[in-house]
Amino acid sequence: MNFDSIAPIYGLLETVTAGPAVQRCRTAFLSSLENASHVLLLGEGNGRFLVELLKRWPDKRVTVIDSSARMLRILERRLIRNGIDPANVERVQTDVRDWNPPSSRFDAIVANFFLDCFRPIELQTLIHSVSRSAKPNAIWLVADFRHPTQALRGLRAAIILGVMYRFFRLTTRLDAQRLTPPDRHLEDAGFSLRERQNRDWGLLHADVWHRAG
Ligand SMILES: C[S@@+](CC[C@H](N)C(=O)[O-])C[C@H]1O[C@@H](n2cnc3c(N)ncnc32)[C@H](O)[C@@H]1O
Repeated sequence: MNFDSIAPIYGLLETVTAGPAVQRCRTAFLSSLENASHVLLLGEGNGRFLVELLKRWPDKRVTVIDSSARMLRILERRLIRNGIDPANVERVQTDVRDWNPPSSRFDAIVANFFLDCFRPIELQTLIHSVSRSAKPNAIWLVADFRHPTQALRGLRAAIILGVMYRFFRLTTRLDAQRLTPPDRHLEDAGFSLRERQNRDWGLLHADVWHRAG
């Protein structure tokens, strides 16, 4: 799996296929990060969420993990364009599956359109491993796709997600072939769902998960 090949067109693809819906979903619960001193962004990609975070709270400590060198370069340029010094953001280019997370370090974890990249067994291992780096009262924001339960909405989502997974498999050699909901694994890691917004006829959702210390 490697997002380098589509990194330069990722933003354009998003705008053409979804307009502002995806960014609205990413930032739906941005305000819940107010008290988080150190935030971990998993698979942040081209940095659209990061810029909004640092525009609002320029002094936050942020660690970004992404395996794509090109995505991280685009993210860096975006920071510079927005007057933010990239040196203030810790950027780790690695496959998160090979990453050894520090223990109890982050007040918040953010996974925007990232957990959908993994097969069920990988997702379980990943959430279990990354959650060890969360402090006892940490929150975890998730924005991602979802299969709505209603018939017509479910059919629409199945078509869109089917096309998307084929596209990403061809262009990035993504291992995942379908969407796996992370809910059960987040619960197993001690998080409970505090708030959820469903958007775009249930195709998108934004969540706040909280781990009670
Ligand atoms: C679908 S994009 C989402 C990007 C961004 N978070 C967003 O909201 O659009 C997935 C991102 O996760 C990164 N990624 C995918 N698998 C990864 C892995 N195993 N380890 C680290 N980063 C990964 C990709 O390079 C890409 O930037």
